[in-house]
Amino acid sequence: MTTPYTKKLIEVALPLSEINDASAYDKMPGIGPHPKGIHHWWARLPLPVARAVLFASVVDDPSSHPDRFPTEEAQAQERERLFGIIRKMMQKNLHKHPEVYAEARAEMLKHADGKLPPVLDPFAGGGSIPLEAARLGFEAYAGDINPVAVLLNKCNLEIAPRWANHPPVNPEDRDHHKIGGTGGWRGTAGLAADVRYYGRVILERARERIGHLYPPVKITPEMAAEHPHLNPYVGQELPVIAWIWARTVPSPNPAARGAHVPLMSTFWLSSKRGKEAWLEPVVDRAAGTWRFVVRTGSPEDRAAVKAGMKTGRATFRCLLTGDTIKDDYIKGQGKAGQMGVRLVAIVADTGRGRVYLPATEEHEAIAQRARPEWKPEGSVPERLTGGTCAPYGLAQWGDLFTPRQLTAMVTLSDLVREVRADLWRDALAAGFSDAEAEEYARAVTTFLALALDRCADFNNSLCRWSPSNQKVMNLFGRQAIPMVWDFAEANLLGESVGAWVTCSEYVAECIETMATLLQGRARPIDAARPWDGLKDVLVSTDPPYYDNIGYAALSDFFYVWLRRTIGDLYPDLFATILVPKEPELVAAPERFGGDKHAAKEHFEQGLRRAFAQLREKMDPRFPLTVYYAYKQEDEGSGEDEKELNGNDGNRVDRTTGWETMLQALIETGFQITATWPVRASQKWRMVSMGTNALASYIVLACRPRSEDAPQTDRRGFVAELKRELPGALRRLQQGNIAPVDFAQAAIGPGMAIFSRYGRVLEPDGRPMSVRTALGLINQMLTEVLSEQEDEFDNETRWAITWFEQLGFGEGEFGEAELLSKAKVTTVGSLVEAGIVDSKGGKVRLLPPDKLPKDWHPEREARPTVWGAVHHLIRIYYHEKAGEEATAKVVRALGARAELARDLAYRLYGICERRGWTQEAQAYNALVLGWPGIIHLAGTSFERPGTQGTMF
Ligand SMILES: C[S@@+](CC[C@H](N)C(=O)[O-])C[C@H]1O[C@@H](n2cnc3c(N)ncnc32)[C@H](O)[C@@H]1O
Repeated sequence: MTTPYTKKLIEVALPLSEINDASAYDKMPGIGPHPKGIHHWWARLPLPVARAVLFASVVDDPSSHPDRFPTEEAQAQERERLFGIIRKMMQKNLHKHPEVYAEARAEMLKHADGKLPPVLDPFAGGGSIPLEAARLGFEAYAGDINPVAVLLNKCNLEIAPRWANHPPVNPEDRDHHKIGGTGGWRGTAGLAADVRYYGRVILERARERIGHLYPPVKITPEMAAEHPHLNPYVGQELPVIAWIWARTVPSPNPAARGAHVPLMSTFWLSSKRGKEAWLEPVVDRAAGTWRFVVRTGSPEDRAAVKAGMKTGRATFRCLLTGDTIKDDYIKGQGKAGQMGVRLVAIVADTGRGRVYLPATEEHEAIAQRARPEWKPEGSVPERLTGGTCAPYGLAQWGDLFTPRQLTAMVTLSDLVREVRADLWRDALAAGFSDAEAEEYARAVTTFLALALDRCADFNNSLCRWSPSNQKVMNLFGRQAIPMVWDFAEANLLGESVGAWVTCSEYVAECIETMATLLQGRARPIDAARPWDGLKDVLVSTDPPYYDNIGYAALSDFFYVWLRRTIGDLYPDLFATILVPKEPELVAAPERFGGDKHAAKEHFEQGLRRAFAQLREKMDPRFPLTVYYAYKQEDEGSGEDEKELNGNDGNRVDRTTGWETMLQALIETGFQITATWPVRASQKWRMVSMGTNALASYIVLACRPRSEDAPQTDRRGFVAELKRELPGALRRLQQGNIAPVDFAQAAIGPGMAIFSRYGRVLEPDGRPMSVRTALGLINQMLTEVLSEQEDEFDNETRWAITWFEQLGFGEGEFGEAELLSKAKVTTVGSLVEAGIVDSKGGKVRLLPPDKLPKDWHPEREARPTVWGAVHHLIRIYYHEKAGEEATAKVVRALGARAELARDLAYRLYGICERRGWTQEAQAYNALVLGWPGIIHLAGTSFERPGTQGTMF
């Protein structure tokens, strides 16, 4: 069957391991300024994959042009050229390389009749896809139901590009003669400079208004007497980095007469080796009092320090009586308003590092004195995958902040509103018209409001102190709002993590990375309902996935502050008191009176309606690409977080979810033409099996199926799989897809066949389900891999069968001999080939790390593909000899090397089925290293046609 459309690169091959690596890097915390840093959004798509997918959706696969690329070889060569462009696009900090974007755009234009289609993402979220689209030179349209998401996309697509190449308006930069032409203020540098400047103006004003709430801490001789590590600082006033508080409840033991006791999840302040500091309780049981002293040095019992007063997930030991304080008791006390807080330590800045001090009454009293004038309304979600603090009595958004945090946040919010007047005045002075000055003042104020949201993330009572990093951690390291027992209150007017000036500086730095080529548009839409306008668009989108993330519920945390600060600037976005929940596509039973079925229906129907509309809107020249979030990695979720996390957040069976997505696409008239697993996690290289082997995303490329698509039966479907799958799989292998990803990627070409039919009928006349089709595709994959066996030598074919049964374990000589007859070899030949050990009636395959080191391909008595692959693994994986050394061997292996890679796929598949994790990792690693090794070997291999031509 010929395809009625021009196949795009994404429908045939992708340089996946480079895309994976770049995406994993993009997801890493601490990689410096990045467009995502302007505001938090949960589970953002990494920019590199968004970029690669857009590019590969526009450029044709060379097989679409047999006139220009008549042979497989010519096609592979052209593909390699296109991969080269993608590889360049995968480098770090691409915003600093406009030439790479320009090259990609020029290439795409060649494949799109000289005009790029507009790109639409109707589930834009934090905006990775539209941002990359705009950077690549597409007209980008972003839609989302969530006002916070729409605002972020406005910042990316409308506001930042609108003020590109404008000098700043602030008097300081103007006075320094930096102004004069736009030369020095390329891209978003001017806008960023103003965010920085007015951020500092706000800090000064905030210090005037509420500086008294953030005093330095004086080191007294009394303190030092009990804490010798403070001796060098006696008499000094040190600025505070953070105050560490513990929540308290009345002791459950009546003997304690209602005295409050601390719920401490750890006693560590700094767990860094050589710089340890921890809290030690000093208890007066008779008086029913307690306090903490700070200890430094090396604790006798690290485990006890780590445990604090915690005995289980949410259970503690009473410091006064030793009784267990149970979760239900804590919840009851929290709900009754009986939970308190006590200052337990202060972290101060010595100028050369951090120092930990005991709490002081004065500092506790100052914090308690704050009287906020406003607090956010609205309920914290009662249920959230991953946890919520609501059951502990922190039920309203305002409850998440201490009085001092609220006072400071409200003051800063007021000051952001007020600084608009300064901006307007300065913009006029810089020569802007009235209207421009007004618009520019809104732009800068908007980014300052985003910085305030960053402050909110770092300044609430659910922020932990990380003893390993010695800093305040933000709330949304995860997509949940879990309870935190001992929290860190950052000095908002200071200069460390979480301080206003740090947040606004950071947002400014991130603005500098945002520049796009074109202005786009962002607007609020419900993707599941008809919305006007766009036609002939290239659609690329990352829809919500089932119940994974309650975006509307979570984003209220930020919405309430944004609404207070800049709600008047965006009346259409901030009309409601909280984020509208009802139209959001998420399977949340609580929105349907606990009815799981109704929630599922709402989600699935909505998704189908959205896909059906996209089908009408898309330009048929390009495939629609959909990201299926297989597994949401928690960004920045370190060891400490995992302890709180407990579950991995995915309540839906992943296999069923995947099938549901495929089914929804097929039912709305799509044909699936490719499926690419993307691993946006650092772990993927190391752990190649088990649950961690799941891709973070699967990218699906889809085409509209024609209305009059034919139907076929099971037999016809299987026949077509047999005819088309081997070639498609071969192309995947040539694209060097990692063995761990092979099975998922193979679904693409298989589903392409299944979904090009209106229906595939089972013998009983019922339509075949997606699940059955997936099973058949998988079966065919195994068959194709076995067929590739024909290309191997006899000894290798013996070894594969033996390995399937015994791995590298021992078997009986008699059985080995019997098998060797079937494979036309002998045990003697296998020994001669150096791949088996035969002793005392037992035979076993030699594992790679037991192979002789003095081996060389040119000195082999009996060359085999099996020997080649395992020696390569010995050298590359076990001995870690590096790509250079491995490449030398590859060069000596000649044509046998390429077959070795095929064998690695085959053996990986066997290990995966048998659950042999360690062996599987070795095969996966060899294939992953392959492009680098081949590059160094400087060899392009002729594929040997048959076994006979080889040996
Ligand atoms: C997986 S997220 C997109 C993440 C995005 N790719 C990024 O990089 O941040 C899905 C988005 O769909 C949005 N959404 C949910 N229901 C919607 C609806 N009915 N219409 C439009 N957007 C919706 C959510 O608000 C969320 O931002």
